[in-house]
Amino acid sequence: MAKSIGILTAGGDSPGLNAAIRAVGKTALGRFGMQMIGFRDGFRGLVENRSLRLDEAALSGLLTLGGTFLGTSRDKPHRMLIGNKVLDMTDAIVETYHKNHLDVLVCLGGGGTQKNAYRLAEKGLNIITLPKTIDNDIAMTDTTFGYDTALGIATEAIDRLHSTAHSHHRIIVVGIMGHNTGWLALGSGIAGGANVILIPEIPYDINVVSQAIRQRSRQGKNFSIVAVAEGAISKEKAMIMQEAMQMKMQAINKEEKKEAKARLEQLELEHDKDHTLELSQQLEELTGLESRVTILGHLQRGGTPSAVDRLLATQLGTACVEMINSETYGVMMAIRGNKVEAVPLEEVVGKRKMIPLDHDWVEAAKNVGISLGA
Ligand code: F6P
Repeated sequence: MAKSIGILTAGGDSPGLNAAIRAVGKTALGRFGMQMIGFRDGFRGLVENRSLRLDEAALSGLLTLGGTFLGTSRDKPHRMLIGNKVLDMTDAIVETYHKNHLDVLVCLGGGGTQKNAYRLAEKGLNIITLPKTIDNDIAMTDTTFGYDTALGIATEAIDRLHSTAHSHHRIIVVGIMGHNTGWLALGSGIAGGANVILIPEIPYDINVVSQAIRQRSRQGKNFSIVAVAEGAISKEKAMIMQEAMQMKMQAINKEEKKEAKARLEQLELEHDKDHTLELSQQLEELTGLESRVTILGHLQRGGTPSAVDRLLATQLGTACVEMINSETYGVMMAIRGNKVEAVPLEEVVGKRKMIPLDHDWVEAAKNVGISLGA
């Protein structure tokens, strides 16, 4: 019997998702004679059994298309808002899977999606995942599709900000996506020639940042570009966060645990707020230069995927069908040293690929005189 595939995209959209769906579909239908249906809007589409048949015609014209034509959402199977209640909808998903006589469910997504997909694998569903995110922070894969496109967009933005910063003798603080990791800020900051790059992995000291900018002024360069990852954090705040985490770990009774958890959540909430404006104001005061803020935001996720992302999505998507054909499930298709590998999901979930402090890019940034704020 020809195999039947279900496919969905979950989490934030990312360039290359349509190219990956197309690659899975064309290989499955054209080479193996399998069938495929797509579920709309991530895991919610599975709960509500909202799907469409993906035949040859539906898979045409997708390669260059940004976003995901299936739609996406950040819904989690085990904690989904239904009406005004948050409910565990895992059983409904399992039911939809069987109702559609699926042999496998392919989930395209970031770190959260890998976790949600793994939970479904634990419930007995055949699952394969593909790694997408502009953040490039999924463990066990060298890279993720979406990252290269976003890197290009952020680099071009930093390029363009140079001429206006230079003309007005200003600091420009550029907010770059990356809540937990700094791959996008570090990569585009180096490629775009930022003068300061602040990333979550290296808590910054505002005085070190201002010194770097003042030093440039002394050399006659009285403008600076400061590339800041969303999750960048000052040394003081990082310390407070660490203390709160320790308190949570050391809490001995229920009451203490609850209190420590609430404190940590509050700190995380405060940290999630955009802090580029505060940083910009601090730098104005410390350097005497005028400063402006540019938040790149969702521009970084929009539009057609780069050639590298199209290639990667096609490579991972086609290899995924080889796995389906050999009935290898519970894996994420990863790229490791230019080769595609199937990595067991349990080795992927619960981890985050941070930038190692001895990474070549960190060294390279320092060597070309970029301040990392520490
Ligand atoms: O995970 C991808 C990402 O673009 C992050 O870089 C960013 O912090 C987040 O998604 C934004 O999410 P949303 O589009 O839901 O606001």
